[in-house]
Amino acid sequence: MSQLTINGIAYPFETSETLYECVSRHIGRDEIPVLCHDPALEPFGACRICLVEVARSVGEKGRLMASCHTPVAEGLHVSTGSERLMKARKGILELLLSNYPQERLEPTAGERPTPFQRLLQEYGVSHSRYPLGEEPGRPSQPHPYLRFDPAECIHCYRCIRACDEVQGQFVLAMANRGIKSHIIQGLAGDFGEAGCVSCGRCVQTCPTNALHDRYRAKTIKAEHTVPTVCTYCGVGCNLEVKVQQGRVAAISAIEGAAVNNGHSCLKGRYAFEYVHHPDRLTSPLIRRDG
Ligand code: SF4
Ligand code: SF4
Ligand code: FES
Repeated sequence: MSQLTINGIAYPFETSETLYECVSRHIGRDEIPVLCHDPALEPFGACRICLVEVARSVGEKGRLMASCHTPVAEGLHVSTGSERLMKARKGILELLLSNYPQERLEPTAGERPTPFQRLLQEYGVSHSRYPLGEEPGRPSQPHPYLRFDPAECIHCYRCIRACDEVQGQFVLAMANRGIKSHIIQGLAGDFGEAGCVSCGRCVQTCPTNALHDRYRAKTIKAEHTVPTVCTYCGVGCNLEVKVQQGRVAAISAIEGAAVNNGHSCLKGRYAFEYVHHPDRLTSPLIRRDG
């Protein structure tokens, strides 16, 4: 049987796996931090936070490799949490912070932290030795649901890949190169004009609040969440309803659900305000005498 070791223990692997997938399957998804990786998207390798140490033999000094797009191989010795790795990951977080606003290190008042903010807290990183001070690009034109704020963008490309690979709409792109690169929504910075269908997949995958929606679905502190099935059409997308004070406050698509795997159309994700609309009929009406 094909095997590798993870932190000194032998585990079998499947030949189609990446190191990240193999470690996640055996030890758990939180063992290796990720930022540009989304299991619903093709491996990409933009941020490098998922570094692990990989050696060919016991005692050999391992190479630092990004686990989310490195394939497994027979006899590898993988280490996931050495001091050297922690230092390297902290350095990467500092690089990602180089153009990130200091006042957004903490979650917005009353909200949950984004995955990026959680990682900064976990690794105790709150400033960068490499500040850039570049203009980060322009916010998007007004949109009924979507908001883009380039200040929080860490250039992970998840939004572009989600729009291309999942929704097939090709709305987003990276303009310029190097430190001047930034996300654009078509040349006019307008989601609608660029062909966006408001599916919200880019928002759900974005690990910061650079992309968010008007309901703050990613970071809202819901009193409770209710898993449900969308009733708009026959596909049956699995959704999670976030409830505040007895009202539907936001909806997300459930990651890993067999039917929709974190995706939804505009209606399932955003068209819920009718639920509490005062004009809504909540009991049957009977027409009498014409
Ligand atoms: S909402 Fe959907 S279609 Fe619009 S940019 Fe995001 S992923 Fe693309
Ligand atoms: S907007 Fe979000 S998902 Fe897109 S590149 Fe920036 S941080 Fe990544
Ligand atoms: S999570 Fe692996 S390179 Fe970004």
